[in-house]
Amino acid sequence: MCGIVGYVGEKKATPILINGLLRLEYRGYDSAGIAVLEKDHIDVRKDIGRVKNLQENNHVEELSGTTGIAHTRWATHGKPSKENSHPHLDNSKNFAVVHNGIIENYSELREFLTKQGYTFYSQTDTEVIPNLIHYYYHKNGDTSLVNGFLRAVTDTCKVLKGSYAIEVLNKDFPNTVIVVRKDSPLVIAKGDKENYIASDIPAILSYSKDFYLLEDNEFAIITTDEIHFYDADLHEHEKHVKSIEWDASASEKDGYEDYMLKEIFEQPKAIRETIGTRFQDYICRFEELPFTKEYLQSLTQIYIVACGTAMHAGLVAKNMIEKLCHIPVTVDIASEFRYRNPLITSHTLCIYISQSGETADTIAALKLAKAQGAKTLAISNVIGSSITREADYSIYTHAGPEIAVASTKAYTAQVTLLSLLGIYFAQLLETSTKEDLSVLQNAILALPNQIAEVLKEENLHILQNIAKKIYQEKDMFFLGRGVDYCVALEGSLKLKEISYIHSEAYAAGELKHGPIALIESGVTVISILTDKALTPKTVSNIQEVITRGAKTVVITNDEENIDMNHYDFVVTIPKTSSYVSPILSVIPMQLLSYYIAKEKGLDVDKPRNLAKSVTVE
Ligand code: M6R
Repeated sequence: MCGIVGYVGEKKATPILINGLLRLEYRGYDSAGIAVLEKDHIDVRKDIGRVKNLQENNHVEELSGTTGIAHTRWATHGKPSKENSHPHLDNSKNFAVVHNGIIENYSELREFLTKQGYTFYSQTDTEVIPNLIHYYYHKNGDTSLVNGFLRAVTDTCKVLKGSYAIEVLNKDFPNTVIVVRKDSPLVIAKGDKENYIASDIPAILSYSKDFYLLEDNEFAIITTDEIHFYDADLHEHEKHVKSIEWDASASEKDGYEDYMLKEIFEQPKAIRETIGTRFQDYICRFEELPFTKEYLQSLTQIYIVACGTAMHAGLVAKNMIEKLCHIPVTVDIASEFRYRNPLITSHTLCIYISQSGETADTIAALKLAKAQGAKTLAISNVIGSSITREADYSIYTHAGPEIAVASTKAYTAQVTLLSLLGIYFAQLLETSTKEDLSVLQNAILALPNQIAEVLKEENLHILQNIAKKIYQEKDMFFLGRGVDYCVALEGSLKLKEISYIHSEAYAAGELKHGPIALIESGVTVISILTDKALTPKTVSNIQEVITRGAKTVVITNDEENIDMNHYDFVVTIPKTSSYVSPILSVIPMQLLSYYIAKEKGLDVDKPRNLAKSVTVE
């Protein structure tokens, strides 16, 4: 939520800041703003709506300063408006601040500052920060860089409660930005006579591949030539630079109309790279994990904890791990897990899935389990992300940067990695036969080519045609049984988030326990049938909705067992193991949602009210 960019160097800051904001816009797009250090003042320009408005309507090209900070907002406190947009200035206009996160005690801080004579011009929680910095700067009475400016920032952070990634400009310190993070992401890219700051790596990857990943409560003073790191007590420390292997072009649209479409088409590559070289001589290897047979045998429970799409990937894994490894698996929504006092012991393994690795609820749920003695394993797509730094162990999907708000390749890569993990556990535990595991291994290895088959032109036409017929609908239903129900949940989420069509996913057998009351003539029901054993049961449920006038779309690899002419639309996918069938069956649903959103003329990459990375609770 909210994107932050910063630049200190010898070039004009504004084009770099705007470029970074455009790349970070997926994190929030209610309003945007920049603050640039000009000769004798801090110049702030802001606008509501997209970065384009800021860029085109505010004469930002006039700004010539070479140091600046910028922000694209996902509103929490205060509606999207110019005055609530960042950067925020203190009353003296000496300090400018951009902030991602939430200051939970802002009301009491605002009251304190008001009593000291400060005035507030916005409804945001952020505006207390520049004013507190100003307050401490003058209270301490030291105007040097470390003991004055930095101390004012560290003193401020000591009274802030909540989460924050902050950049601060001080009119008296040209070519300097101070940054700090706590529970919100912030990275610094090291250049030659210039340094960059951003909420995530792809935003500034085209400028440098050398990154510093800031830790919680770590402060940095960034100037043109140097970066110095401090703790909250102003002790300086060394920090290692990390070289990032991602190709800068991975965060470009590459000729596709939208990032989402590009990312759907990147799935064969994402799966291939996630599998990597893990299979060797029919053994699945996770050399970075220290698990032993004895440890896995001691487990009484595995929790898989995540949000949204990542949680849906966890549901697919539950089915597989329970069957292959005979360990009970519970899948929890992170925001529920953290407050429901789950039973956690040293015999519990907690697996956390997060594409971004920055989701606040998932990180909090991880900290909770760790504090209670469980081992924690993070699955993320972003090397060095917060969740991987908190967890005992981390493994990575290799999907490349995912920019579109709607997650696609991250989901299929997560299901792939979890399948590999399931095989790895089953091998150690010897709870599945070698034959069964090698059948599954072959199924996984075949997936990249099978995904390419699903993405073939002919299928795209079928799905575009279906989209044209149903895009004006108000409600849709997704049905499935077993693993098809798990993927139905993901199909339904995709549809609602980018097309704004209300949709529900149901276990097909549950339909007649209530929701069937909503089925009437014209309502579209999308069913997934990939498990031969369950096909006849789901077919009966589809018949029940046809009888009540529903339009039906069937996604299947079980053509032999269904009457293909009985449904309005049928999309076929290749046959695979039912453990991993969601990796194929989800793709027509991703595409259908995409085409429906396009028919409706919507911005598929930046759906309303959403942000890619949910770094607030
Ligand atoms: O970065 P994360 O995987 O932790 O994100 C979790 C969810 O916010 C995310 O999957 C969300 O549901 C997507 N917008 C779904 O497309």
